[in-house]
Amino acid sequence: MQTEILGDIESVNKQGNILIIKTKEATARIWVYSDSIIRVNVSKAFNDDDKSFAVIQKPGDFKFEESADEIVIKTPVLQLHINKSPLRFNFYTANGKALSEDDPRFGINWQGDRVINYRKLYKDEKFIGLGEKTGNLNKRGSSFVNWNTDAAMHDTKTDPLYKTFPFFIGLHSGLTYGLFFDNTHKSYFDFGATTDDQMSWFGADGGDMNYYFFGAQSVAQIIEDYTWLTGRMEMPPLWSLGYQQCRWSYMSADEVLSIAERFRKEKIPADVIYCDIDYMDEFKIFTWNKETFPDPKAMIDKLKAIGFRLITIVDPGIKIEPGYKEYDEGVENNYFATYPNGEKYVGEVWAGRCHFPDFFREDVREWWGAAFTALTDPGVEGFWNDMNEPAAWGQNIPSLVKFGDKYMPEVRNAYGMEMARATYEGTRRVIGNKRPFVLTRAAYAGTQRYSAVWTGDNSAYDSHMLMGQRMVSSLGITGMSLVGVDNGGFSENPTPELMVRWNSLGVYTPMFRNHAMQGTVMREPWQWGKKNMAIIKKDIEQRYRLLPYIYSGFYQSHKTGLPLSRTLAINYTNDENGYDVKYHNQFLFGDSILVAPVESTKLTAEVYLPAGEWYRLSTREKFTGEQSIIVDAPLTDLPVFIKAGAIIPMQNVIQSTNETGNGVLEINIWHGNEPTSFVYYEDDGLSYDYEQGEYFKREITFDPNKRTIEFSKVEGAFVSRFNKIKLMGYGFEEASVSKHKLYNNSNDAIKIDL
Ligand code: GLC
Repeated sequence: MQTEILGDIESVNKQGNILIIKTKEATARIWVYSDSIIRVNVSKAFNDDDKSFAVIQKPGDFKFEESADEIVIKTPVLQLHINKSPLRFNFYTANGKALSEDDPRFGINWQGDRVINYRKLYKDEKFIGLGEKTGNLNKRGSSFVNWNTDAAMHDTKTDPLYKTFPFFIGLHSGLTYGLFFDNTHKSYFDFGATTDDQMSWFGADGGDMNYYFFGAQSVAQIIEDYTWLTGRMEMPPLWSLGYQQCRWSYMSADEVLSIAERFRKEKIPADVIYCDIDYMDEFKIFTWNKETFPDPKAMIDKLKAIGFRLITIVDPGIKIEPGYKEYDEGVENNYFATYPNGEKYVGEVWAGRCHFPDFFREDVREWWGAAFTALTDPGVEGFWNDMNEPAAWGQNIPSLVKFGDKYMPEVRNAYGMEMARATYEGTRRVIGNKRPFVLTRAAYAGTQRYSAVWTGDNSAYDSHMLMGQRMVSSLGITGMSLVGVDNGGFSENPTPELMVRWNSLGVYTPMFRNHAMQGTVMREPWQWGKKNMAIIKKDIEQRYRLLPYIYSGFYQSHKTGLPLSRTLAINYTNDENGYDVKYHNQFLFGDSILVAPVESTKLTAEVYLPAGEWYRLSTREKFTGEQSIIVDAPLTDLPVFIKAGAIIPMQNVIQSTNETGNGVLEINIWHGNEPTSFVYYEDDGLSYDYEQGEYFKREITFDPNKRTIEFSKVEGAFVSRFNKIKLMGYGFEEASVSKHKLYNNSNDAIKIDL
C-alpha cells in the first residue's frame, strides 16, 4: 500500500470565503467560522455538497497574509500558520503561544483511503473528550476507535461502544484547544498511546481530513463554541427529569399499572414508566401486543391519572412480514437499505429477519415520523430509540450495504443520530406544541439537537457505576447534557448496597433511570427491603426537591451548551488533582454541587475539594478547598458538597412533576465570602411556548458584604408556579437569615436585607 505524505504547496487562492491550497497529493481548504473556530479540510476528492451531520453554522469571511514560507490567518483569538514546504497546519494563540502543531515530519498522510493527521505531542499534554468511552478522564496514553457498536456485555476496557463523538480538548502549558474531526467513517484517536511521546494522531478509514480547531482559552468556552457549531439541546420536558422506572420488560398493561400504582402507594416520587420490546406484537415496531396490552389508551389514561408518563421503545429493524403495515410501505416505496444490486439488506434482530430504514433520506424520515401515531394516539410521550448502531446479530453488517448513495462504512456512525432525528422531527409533528422526549443509544456529534442518550448495557458492578459517571461527564464535554446510565446495572444482579448507592448517584445524574435486563432480579425501590427502600425513597425525594435547580441547569445547557454534569476539568482546568484517577469520578452537578461517587463496598471516601470553601450537604460541616479529605460515606449519605456562596433553588417533595407542589420556592444560600449569583429559569416544562417569551427568568444575587439577596426583575411573560419565596441560610454566623419567612414571588425586583 502506498503511503503519501502531504508535500509542498503548488498554488494558493481564495474563492469567496474559502482559502484553497493545492499540493501534488491533495487540496486543502480553510474556512473561518468565528474568531475562535477555524476549519481545515484536506481532501483528494472534495465533495462540493460539503454536508455535515453535525455542523449547523456557516463560515464567515477572513483575510490572510502570505510570505515566502507561510500563509498566516489571524483572528483576535487564534492564529493559523500554514507552512508551505511541506504543507503543515500549526495553531497559536493570538500572542503566539503554540496550541497545536502538525508533526513536522508526517503531518497529514494517506495509506490507501485511510487518512491520518499526526500532531506534535506536548510534554504535559492531557486530553479529555470523545464522549462515551471507557478508561480515564485524562486520555493521555490511550487510543480509541469510533465505530458504533452494540456493545452488549461490555466491560471497563471495551472499545468501541455505541456512540461517536470525534471531539476532544487538549490541555498543555496552561493552554486549551479543541479539535472536532468531522468524519463519519470508522475513526481512530491516539493520544500518545503508541508513539514514543512525540506524536498524537487521529484519522479515519476514508473521507477527508476535515477538522474544526477551537482556540478559546477555557474549557467551558470551548464547549460553548463546539455547541454553537453543532447545536444545543432544547429545553427538555420537565417530567423527563423526574425519576424514571424501566425494565426489560414489564410484560403486560396490568404489570405496568401495578408498578406505577405501587410507587404512589409507597409515596415514592416518579414520573416515567417504560415499555420495553415486549409491548409489541412479535417485536413489530409501531404495533401493540393485543393480548397483553389490549387497550393501550386505557392503560395510558390510567397512568396519566396518577401522574405517570409512558415511554416506549422502538428499534430500527422492520420485520419481514407481508401484511405488516410498515413492512409493506417500506417495500413499496423502497425505504430500506439495499445491496448495490437493489436487493434489500436482511439482518436479524429481536423481530427475526428485518429490513432497515434508510434514515439518511428525508422521505424515509418523514414516513418513520408519521408512523408514531400508533404510539402517540393512545398517549405515549417519550420515544426510546435502541439498536440503532445499527445492531444486527453477528454485529457485522456487510460493507456492501447501501444507505441512499452511501455505503455502510461511510455513514454507519451517523445512522443512530439520523434515526433519533427522524423520531424527534416526526413526533414533534404529531404531538402538537409539546416537547417530545427522545432517548437514543447510538449517536454522532450533534445528537444533542434531537435526543437524550444513555450509555447502553452496563453491568451491576461498582466499577461500572464509576465508569458510567465518567462517561456521563465526558458526554457533557461533547455537548450531550441530558445523559443517563442504567442505574443498578443492566446485566447481572446488584447487591442491595450497590442498588442503594447507584440510586444515590442517580439523584445527581442528568437523566435518572433505573433499568434492568430480562432475567435479572426486579429493581424497583421496594425490592430491597424496608431499610433500603427508605434510603432510596429519601434520595428520590431529594431529586424532586432539587428540580428547580436542575431545570435552571438545563437552561444553561440549552443556552450555552454547558452540561449539567461537569467534570472538574471544566471549572478547575489547571488543578491536576481533577485528572488524578483517585478523584476523576468526581463532578460538579450544576454550578455548585460537588459529588464524589463511592463504591458500595466502601463506607469512607477520600474526596478532593477544589479551590474555594465547601460544606458537606448532610452535616453542613465546612471545609477549605485544595485539599483531600477522608469522609464518612455510609449508604445513607453519598458525599455531596456545596460550594460556599451557592444559591440553590429547591421545592417541596412532590410525587410527580404533574403536581404543582406547595407553591414555595426555597432559596438555599450557603454562606461564602464573595458575592455570587444564580440564573433562575422556569417555564411550563411541557410546550414550546418558551420560544415565544413564555418563560420566567431572573438573576438571584447574594452579597455577603452588603448582607443582601436580590432578585432581579423577571424577564419573560410566564407566571412562576411558586407564588412564595422562602430563604434558607447555611453557614451564617447568626441565625438571622430570615429563615422560614415567606416573601411574595412577584415579577418585580426584590431586595431582602439579611
Ligand atoms: C438492548 C438495550 C436494552 C433493552 C434491550 C431490550 O439491549 O440496550 O436497554 O432493554 O435491548 O430491548
